[in-house]
Amino acid sequence: MAPKIETTRHPIAIEIEGLDKWFGGFHVLRGIDFTVKRGERIVICGPSGSGKSTLIRCINRLETFERGRIVVDGIELTDDMRCVDEIRREVGMVFQQFNLFPHLTVLENCTLAPVWVRKLPRREAEAVAMHYLERVRIPEQAGKYPGQLSGGQQQRVAIARALCMNPRIMLFDEPTSALDPEMVKEVLDTMVQLARDGMTMLVVSHEMGFAREVADRVVFMDSGQILEAAPPDAFFGTPQHARTRAFLAQVLR
Ligand SMILES: Nc1ncnc2c1ncn2[C@@H]1O[C@H](COP(=O)(O)OP(=O)(O)O)[C@@H](O)[C@H]1O
Ligand SMILES: [Mg+2]
Repeated sequence: MAPKIETTRHPIAIEIEGLDKWFGGFHVLRGIDFTVKRGERIVICGPSGSGKSTLIRCINRLETFERGRIVVDGIELTDDMRCVDEIRREVGMVFQQFNLFPHLTVLENCTLAPVWVRKLPRREAEAVAMHYLERVRIPEQAGKYPGQLSGGQQQRVAIARALCMNPRIMLFDEPTSALDPEMVKEVLDTMVQLARDGMTMLVVSHEMGFAREVADRVVFMDSGQILEAAPPDAFFGTPQHARTRAFLAQVLR
């Protein structure tokens, strides 16, 4: 079987309205309004500590928030665990630290959730896993353990693992920043391919070449706010805020 990427059902993949979040007394997200359309590729950048991870973690309820609303593919995120589970089925996530299970093989990492959460028969789950391991170009590593793989290979396994759950939206949190420079490209190539396949993607990254190549819009966050969001040409060509210009001068150097 060859599962293909399903895009979101709704024209709006993610809707964020008036989002506020505090960590204790610290106001980490301040009035975030943002809409991601079906099939859109968004790259989020901004200084360390500006709230990028917190924002994308709110989308699949790895963080709670105090004010505002988030709607994912038509499902409003509430405290109801059924809707949280429903949203998590729609949304795959890839982290900076690959978060693979070290005691499971690559194939087992990829089939664990489909078998135990989705109740897919093991043989079917393995066929799906092999499909995506081929897609990220490491089918030959299926029987190895994560510790036997390079960082770039591990991250590609993490991407394949997320895809095995058949998500409609993929969130990436600095997927290449823990990698040695020579491995960044192989992971970005995988993500470019995914973007071309039509996946809705939110990518926190400072890889500005990637942003230029695939992003429909680039978002700049600073101190818990979205300062600007624009298509790459405008974002890099005529950034509106001094903070954005200062940030770009640093990362593009
Ligand atoms: N669990 C937490 N408890 C308290 N403060 C946190 C927690 N997670 C993140 N923060 C703080 O919130 C701010 C934003 O963090 P984060 O979203 O990780 O930023 P970014 O991803 O842009 O670097 C930082 O100042 C960070 O120290
Ligand atoms: Mg972060």
